[in-house]
Amino acid sequence: MTATRVCALSELEQDAAIRVEIEGVPMAVVLDSNGVVHAIGDTCTHGDISLAEGFVDGETLECWAHGSAFSLRTGRPLNLPAYEPVPVYAVTIDGDDVLIDPTPQKEA
Ligand code: FES
Repeated sequence: MTATRVCALSELEQDAAIRVEIEGVPMAVVLDSNGVVHAIGDTCTHGDISLAEGFVDGETLECWAHGSAFSLRTGRPLNLPAYEPVPVYAVTIDGDDVLIDPTPQKEA
């Protein structure tokens, strides 16, 4: 599937997440402290909680409910109680546009 524009780069705050949807699929978009934009599935795999409401720390996004931190690179939770990964999506920056390919990336 082709990448879809989800927001402007200038709308993103460093070390914060926003929730976007592409065709009903919720994603958390994060601008990390290195200036890299990440997109992962927004729904925590432990419960029906929006990860975009959580906390960014380095290259992780922590669920506010019970504290599982998900890697923004791999989608894997780094601690319990979540143990299933969330999908990771490819992000492209085109000028001030943030584009996401909604096809989940395969793990390397
Ligand atoms: S709902 Fe996210 S860690 Fe429990």
